[in-house]
Amino acid sequence: MKIVMIGAGYVGLVSAVCFSDFGHQVTCVEKDRTRLDKLRAGKVPIFEPGLDRLMTHNIAEGRLTFSDDLGTAMEGADAVFIAVGTPARRGDGFADLTYVYDTAREIGEKLKTPTVVVTKSTVPIGTNREVQRIIDSCNPPVKAEVASNPEFLREGSAIEDFMRPNRIIVGVQSPSAEEVMRHIYRPLNLRETPIMFTDLETAETIKYAANAFLATKITFINEIADLCEKTGGDVQQVAKGIGLDARIGGKFLHAGPGYGGSCFPKDTLALVQTGQQHGVPQRIVETVVAVNDARKSAMTEKIIAACGGSVEGKRIAVLGVTFKPNTDDMRDAPSLVILPELMTAGAAITVCDPEGGAEARRLLPGVDWVEDAYSAADGADALVIITEWNAFRGMDLRRIADLLSAPVFVDLRNIYPPEEVEEAGLAHTGVGKGSVN
Ligand code: UGA
Repeated sequence: MKIVMIGAGYVGLVSAVCFSDFGHQVTCVEKDRTRLDKLRAGKVPIFEPGLDRLMTHNIAEGRLTFSDDLGTAMEGADAVFIAVGTPARRGDGFADLTYVYDTAREIGEKLKTPTVVVTKSTVPIGTNREVQRIIDSCNPPVKAEVASNPEFLREGSAIEDFMRPNRIIVGVQSPSAEEVMRHIYRPLNLRETPIMFTDLETAETIKYAANAFLATKITFINEIADLCEKTGGDVQQVAKGIGLDARIGGKFLHAGPGYGGSCFPKDTLALVQTGQQHGVPQRIVETVVAVNDARKSAMTEKIIAACGGSVEGKRIAVLGVTFKPNTDDMRDAPSLVILPELMTAGAAITVCDPEGGAEARRLLPGVDWVEDAYSAADGADALVIITEWNAFRGMDLRRIADLLSAPVFVDLRNIYPPEEVEEAGLAHTGVGKGSVN
């Protein structure tokens, strides 16, 4: 199959690389000159485990190319995927569809051979119909049929998620488009991946409902964690206990500092707004958004309480600032709320994060950066784990205790058993670890 992927951002690049690895001929169209030059030189502009190796391999095999010429790339293409950004609009937080609609117009103007136009970007319900209308309004000489193929990749395990998905969802308008999409995903038949065909609106809604449901699960367990802290009980065991019921399932029940990232915050908000627009408020999701927003500041208070009620003049060692491990993504990371609040309360901050590179440094001015956890702990008055990178999972806690000026250990991801921390001579604060004593 000949595929065009418009946009070499996170979703576009991962999808382009993986489709080429399926054996398809993929041209990835990218307008940003700097990014395009990087890609052409075989450099991956984002951090995603395994992506560089797979990209280099498929470029070498001649199946993956990069271009800025959409018209030429589209000639003879079986499918043209739209994977451009849909950032939250300044002011009202709605998804900004400018790039999607501009791309639709460009497709309509440059199309010469019939194709299926597939939206991969996460777009509000109703957007695909509008994309179809825009393309049609350009009166292309041939037919372009719009399909919706939402993405369920998790950052940090995107390749695995693409190659072994739980399901493929495709919204289509005709059997011929369905046939093209079946063909594209045929390599996944080997794994018996379910592929579900729906209408456009159903596919769009599945994407939002899935992310909102997962965000709800996390928020639910976070509130149960708060309860455990007051009433006694261990939220990790509660999560395991309820998760063993197959109707509930054990995933996305890790209590922590609140969800972040480029998807859950944006998509929950978009669903709330769509509900309000149509007079059907999504009250559960509205509450999830509010509870999650409040949680980040509640974590600051937890840290301050662990430090004896004040962080004035104290140095706090922070491990992990990205929104989750195995990514350099800082979007809506809880650290972006917690660290400035600690600084406002008078603390000095030392940060260690394996990948929180240039972007983290730009977003967190005024903090000191060190290379490893021990350097961060050296002389600090407290150590706080915000993101559960593997590098922080096997620390020598006695050494940490020796390095810290005060034995304060706050684990916002519950990666250490409290007894182990206390045995090392540190005072443990976790999430949802209640004690009635
Ligand atoms: C999420 C979904 O999991 C993907 O299926 C979806 O494709 C993607 O959004 C998207 O819409 O593009 P992602 O944002 O990469 O993926 O990350 P997740 O692993 O889902 O984590 C999201 C946030 O929830 C993180 O801040 C994480 O720390 C938090 N989380 C997750 C918890 O606090 N507890 C959990 O049990 C799980």
